[in-house]
Amino acid sequence: MLIQLTYASHSSRALGPADVKDILQTSQRNNSAVGVTGALCLANGLFLQQLEGDRDVVNQVYLRILKDSRHTEPSILDFGEIASRRFSNWNMGLISSIAENRQIFLKYSRKSEFDPYSMSPSSLRGFFDEIVQGGVRWIG
Ligand SMILES: Cc1cc2nc3c(=O)[nH]c(=O)nc-3n(C[C@H](O)[C@H](O)[C@H](O)COP(=O)(O)O)c2cc1C
Repeated sequence: MLIQLTYASHSSRALGPADVKDILQTSQRNNSAVGVTGALCLANGLFLQQLEGDRDVVNQVYLRILKDSRHTEPSILDFGEIASRRFSNWNMGLISSIAENRQIFLKYSRKSEFDPYSMSPSSLRGFFDEIVQGGVRWIG
């Protein structure tokens, strides 16, 4: 069964480009091996990640991610069956709140800063749909 899991977390320290590159490369390598796709957003010191794939596999990947000391306070925001993947071309794409993307981050946030913890499942769906449809600059 195909599912998506979306969670938010706090970056545990100021992560530099090397940390982010390491997370992205590891994610792409591991996820492609097990058929997981998705997107990772980093903005305002917060992560928002959507994982898609087989239910058991996504659970295993998420449990491993939870043990990572580079982030804290993980919270599942949405979880459910999906008919098809959103990010079929991305084993893990990264987007950040660089100037070009700031508008889209704020469009779905209730506050003036990006705050995924306060986003409802329908806002999250709108946010990720818009990301896939384009108009967003991917880092890798
Ligand atoms: C915010 C965040 C997102 C991550 N996303 C993934 C992911 O999608 N897939 C993955 O395999 N590891 C991800 N990781 C890394 C894992 O926590 C862990 O370091 C990695 O899976 C270990 O892989 P390795 O045993 O091959 O080194 C993420 C880490 C962080 C902090």
